[in-house]
Amino acid sequence: MHLSPLRTTPTTAPVLSWATRGPRAARAALAALPSPRAELRRTVRWATQHGLAAAVLRRAAADGDLQGLMVTRTAGSLEAPYEIARDIRESASLHRSRYAWTTADHAVVREVLAHPDLRSGFPEPERGPVARLAAWAGEPDRLGPLTPPSLLVTDGADHTRYRRLVTRVFSARAVEALRARTQEVAAQLAADLPRHVDARGEVDLVEAYCAPLPVTVICEILGVPAEERERVLAFGQAAAPSLDLGLSWAQMRRVEVALDDFRTWLVGHLEHLREHPGDDLMSRLVAARDEETGEGLSQDELLATAGLVLAAGFETTVNLLSNGLVLLTGHPAARAALAADPDLWGNAVDEVLRFDPPVLLTGRAAATATEVAGQQVRAGEMISAVLAGANRDPAVFTDPDTFDVTRANARDHVSFSGGRHYCLGAALARMEGEVGLRTLLETHPDLVLSSDRRRRPTRILRGWATLPARL
Ligand code: HEM
Repeated sequence: MHLSPLRTTPTTAPVLSWATRGPRAARAALAALPSPRAELRRTVRWATQHGLAAAVLRRAAADGDLQGLMVTRTAGSLEAPYEIARDIRESASLHRSRYAWTTADHAVVREVLAHPDLRSGFPEPERGPVARLAAWAGEPDRLGPLTPPSLLVTDGADHTRYRRLVTRVFSARAVEALRARTQEVAAQLAADLPRHVDARGEVDLVEAYCAPLPVTVICEILGVPAEERERVLAFGQAAAPSLDLGLSWAQMRRVEVALDDFRTWLVGHLEHLREHPGDDLMSRLVAARDEETGEGLSQDELLATAGLVLAAGFETTVNLLSNGLVLLTGHPAARAALAADPDLWGNAVDEVLRFDPPVLLTGRAAATATEVAGQQVRAGEMISAVLAGANRDPAVFTDPDTFDVTRANARDHVSFSGGRHYCLGAALARMEGEVGLRTLLETHPDLVLSSDRRRRPTRILRGWATLPARL
């Protein structure tokens, strides 16, 4: 075997090292390398899921298309989404952009989310060469928040059956039972912050507080033992962009590797829970049976639900906490109102969710030709519902661009979506937001955020990547 012509790259290096251990080992290592066909499928997958959409939307944005601008020009900017949403709303309650419909009108967003003819996920891949290529390159076994059987992209009778079982386990009582534990974890993390102060006298609150709090709660839900939590945190961080649009090839690859590792770990974990059920929600979900049919969730549905809890419940909550810290520390009047009346905390969390939501927008596709907001929408057409825009609709919220923790209807925001796919973790997220923000700000009342904080680069999920602070 002539090894010399082979350049050592991250993929060839293992083969070279195995080759020195004999031909059998080298053959095994070669078989483990991605085949050219797998590489081609991956490239096509990236192009159809991310590259093409990003290029098309960037092009549209360059021509001033409002949906293109919303998706490609708002990442990293605090104000841009609200300015573009205002333009969309002022143009029409349901605006026709170049490639899809889009709305930032509160009433129409709610109509879209509850509409019986509009489905989550992408339109059926029935026509056209791009759709056929996307179907060929897809990997149905990979866990992903937007891959069936994730609840997010399941509809009809399947969704009703499956969601009923999950909702029974994620009941309000179960969330309240997690409150005491969340409080304990938050108090511990807040007390430990001084240990994380760096040489400049600062601590990054995202790393030391906003991320570990929700991941610990998710681990409690999934029944993950303490010694494996760091791994779950790493899975959650690596998989977070899976809800995003327009990832680079390298980002998509990292997300896929993380999701595959998470799936492998999860299969073993579910086996463990079946043999040794705990008091956690995942053990209850594994055992849950439908009252009418006596059937439980399939293995794929259990895997998808655990994956979705991690993907949908982790970074969103980290962002709620980081967005809330920036808003509350930047508004002394809000802090004073909360100090005077701590019963306002629940409302303050809803106002944070309204004013700067962790999820920018979601989308639906028309299953059949239908009417939405008085417009004719053809089968297969997409509608993007700009949740952040609906939350600033002046028809519903007085002075929508003012952050006001005493706002009477703050809870009318649509940050948890609506209709059939209304966030299953909403009660949990509200509880974590309230306990998390209150505990941190009450433990460190003099906390000052540094101005060199950084936004996350993601487009759909909005929050802070770093929040350096002085305690
Ligand atoms: C502030 C935190 C959170 C926000 C802003 C948020 C937001 C959302 C949104 C917008 C949707 C629906 C998307 C659509 O309609 O297309 C959704 C769905 C969902 N969320 Fe959340 N979420 C949060 C936290 C959580 C948590 C903590 C969990 C679970 C532990 C969770 C679990 C889910 C699930 C399972 C769904 C799918 C429901 C279905 O399709 O029937 N979320 N979330």
